[in-house]
Amino acid sequence: MADKVTLAFVGCGGIAGAHREGLKKLWEAGLRDFEVIATCDIDRKRAERMADQIAEFQGRRPTAYQQVEDMLETERALQAVDICSVHRNHHTLAIPCFEGGKHVTIEKPLALTLKAGRLMLAAAERAGTVFQVAENYRRDPAHRAIHWAVRQGDIGEIRMIFWLDVGERLWYWTWREHRMEAGGGWVLDGGVHFADLFRYHVGEVDTVAARTHAFHPYRYGKPETLEDPIPVDVEDTVMATLTFDNGAMGQWTSVSAAPGTRFSQRVLYGELGSIDFSDGLKTRSGREETIPQMVERFRKAIGDDGWEQLFPRGVTDTIATELWEFIQAVQGKAQVEITGVEGYKDEAICMALYESSWLNGSTVAVADVEAGALANYQRDLDEALGL
Ligand SMILES: NC(=O)c1ccc[n+]([C@@H]2O[C@H](COP(=O)([O-])OP(=O)(O)OC[C@H]3O[C@@H](n4cnc5c(N)ncnc54)[C@H](O)[C@@H]3O)[C@@H](O)[C@H]2O)c1
Repeated sequence: MADKVTLAFVGCGGIAGAHREGLKKLWEAGLRDFEVIATCDIDRKRAERMADQIAEFQGRRPTAYQQVEDMLETERALQAVDICSVHRNHHTLAIPCFEGGKHVTIEKPLALTLKAGRLMLAAAERAGTVFQVAENYRRDPAHRAIHWAVRQGDIGEIRMIFWLDVGERLWYWTWREHRMEAGGGWVLDGGVHFADLFRYHVGEVDTVAARTHAFHPYRYGKPETLEDPIPVDVEDTVMATLTFDNGAMGQWTSVSAAPGTRFSQRVLYGELGSIDFSDGLKTRSGREETIPQMVERFRKAIGDDGWEQLFPRGVTDTIATELWEFIQAVQGKAQVEITGVEGYKDEAICMALYESSWLNGSTVAVADVEAGALANYQRDLDEALGL
């Protein structure tokens, strides 16, 4: 027990289940340098159920709590907290943890607004503890391989990225449909993953020009028949143009208000060819490779040791490897890849889209949004948070 990192889960809903499964995969692979000693959710039943489920693989049952303050007060041996709560209270949960000297990993996006995020960064800095934002997409073997292929010049200098997802969703997705709870719609919730991938594959985003819109005033309890309408107030459509520091350009469209034809195209272009995130590599000279073939080539290139670094004991589940990195960082054996600051930069890109749209699509510098100099869209959210 002495060398095990003591962990608590705060927020025991949907994604916390994937975190529990991630820990279970680590456990089953023999990576057992952790013990979950507490679970916490305002919904007591969820905290209790999570404690039961963790006990099934870990042996010892964590103690379940309803309030984070009680948990921090009682669990004196607690070292680290995994926060999987809703966006609105990311900062109000993380800051007391930092003040109690805990290491924190928190689900994306960092916070409801960048101002709330800056308070978290300051608290983490004062605590001097590990701060990880759970940004798992880039940990997928496919994204690791694409990143490597791009860096070794397979498609030459990057010219552009297209990230286009068009379709319709009519069902109601609880707190995610309400701006005051979620901070925004898919631009922020899913978009922060995409922003992280843009930074990972292409580079830092310099400017954005975007229009967001809410075509649907409702989602539906019975989406098949458009019955049981429930008012919603987040955007369901964004169309944006991005420029990158390295001269690349990007087009980002996410639409969940387009009935009929659906399509998704996510492609990187360089001076020599393209990498389609689904279909793989194609070059002007006729070279072709699927994503699984690229992953295999990457695996051979980095060798067993390199693979083991990224996927310890062959575990490829993105949440499992992210949690393992966090545990190792708490033990002083590793650095986290997506720190609070990196998570903040990811979120600033999403907020830049909203800020641009607020200014009727004017081009905005991501640096201004990051610095807090441009925050019109976020102002009423900050006020609601009392910031
Ligand atoms: N990485 C990913 O791919 C991914 C996927 C889904 C969700 N997420 C993120 O995970 C977070 C949670 O999303 P979810 O889908 O699990 O939501 P959810 O609604 O299923 O679960 C959130 C849980 O937090 C609890 N909670 C709310 N306030 C609390 C408080 N003050 N103290 C303790 N618990 C509290 C709720 O009761 C609920 O059980 C969000 O930040 C979301 O963006 C990430």
